[in-house]
Amino acid sequence: MTTHRTAGEEGPRPLLNRRLAEFGTTIFAEMSALALRTGSINLGQGFPDTDGPEEIREAAVRALRDGRGNQYPPGPGVPELRTAIAEHQRRFHGLAYDPDTEVLVTAGATEAIAAALLALVEPGDEVIALEPYYDSYAASIAMAGGVRVPVTLRPHELAFRLDLDELRAAVTDRTRLLLINTPHNPTGTVLTRAELAAIAELAVERDLLVVTDEVYEHLAFDGEHVPLASFPGMRGRTVTISSAGKTFSFTGWKVGWVTASPELISTVRSAKQFLTYVSAGPFQYAVAEALRLPDAYFDGLRDDLRAKRDLLSDGLSAAGFAVHRPAGTYFVTTDIRPLGEEDGFAFCRALPERCGVVAIPNAVFYDHRDEGAPFVRFAFCKRVDVLEEAVARLKSLAP
Ligand SMILES: Cc1ncc(COP(=O)(O)O)c(C=O)c1O
Repeated sequence: MTTHRTAGEEGPRPLLNRRLAEFGTTIFAEMSALALRTGSINLGQGFPDTDGPEEIREAAVRALRDGRGNQYPPGPGVPELRTAIAEHQRRFHGLAYDPDTEVLVTAGATEAIAAALLALVEPGDEVIALEPYYDSYAASIAMAGGVRVPVTLRPHELAFRLDLDELRAAVTDRTRLLLINTPHNPTGTVLTRAELAAIAELAVERDLLVVTDEVYEHLAFDGEHVPLASFPGMRGRTVTISSAGKTFSFTGWKVGWVTASPELISTVRSAKQFLTYVSAGPFQYAVAEALRLPDAYFDGLRDDLRAKRDLLSDGLSAAGFAVHRPAGTYFVTTDIRPLGEEDGFAFCRALPERCGVVAIPNAVFYDHRDEGAPFVRFAFCKRVDVLEEAVARLKSLAP
């Protein structure tokens, strides 16, 4: 492929533009390829190895057969799903949203995050994100021309915590928005009511917008998930994002959503309409049914994953890792220093050969790579027999 030079630049011009230069390839692709090549158990990427409820799968088949959603659905999402999202927000969080003006269906949470940032951020605006951060945040901020300002969660008594003074100090006159994630991937931290109240106070005081990624809203094992939008002064300044992928174990359907004020929804929609316009027609009807499943479903999902968290966390402890037992999500972050290791990258690259398990070095989720160097993330959204086998293999690492 030929490239051409821009005046004043030396050498061939790279194909990938400057905004995305640092996001060329992801560690997930490298690690998944390694898992395949070595026949390893892949606890790297966070997708369940069992599909969600059979009746919801059938609902998707039915929608497809009945010809619902096979053509472009309405831009904001099908009314059935928007109504179900509004009902869900009221049922679980006591938050009232108008399905016609305050709900937007997206192609997964990923598109919602990208659309929110593309719509709200001017080039040069600062966006504060909790570090380590889910990898699409950095790329979306970059695509919007924003400046990433990480605030680092640090281990404290085996849980990663937010330093509220540091967060406060990170706000400048150029700060446009806070990008929050709770329950938090990859640390498993669930921000407490007091922490969220402090974030809300700061946002109100400095008149900031907040984009909050709550895709693990149903996966808080210890403590409770409280939506940021429920705090005083937050309803009108908060873009809340969630997704069916994690809650219903259909990550491939890519059905996500945004709830916010009418002004914020129409702003986010301005960007979203030119990303995908619409997506996942028949799946939208199925997710509408999923959101109305009885409490037993949501409790069962959480109980199942709590047991898996304990199984993998105990196994990792027995293998010699220091385990930051997650309060939420389906990831567990470990510290490899008790194993005599310091470099998570080197450790993860060697792990498949050493014991047939794949994990992800948390450093990829950091700007301050040194801070993340000794941490390694394992996913536990896998079948019990798979986790038991992984634990048995990891035992060989024990010093
Ligand atoms: C924190 C967080 N946000 C968003 C996503 C992506 O969600 P979706 O598949 O709905 O785009 C993930 C998936 O791993 C995630 O961990």
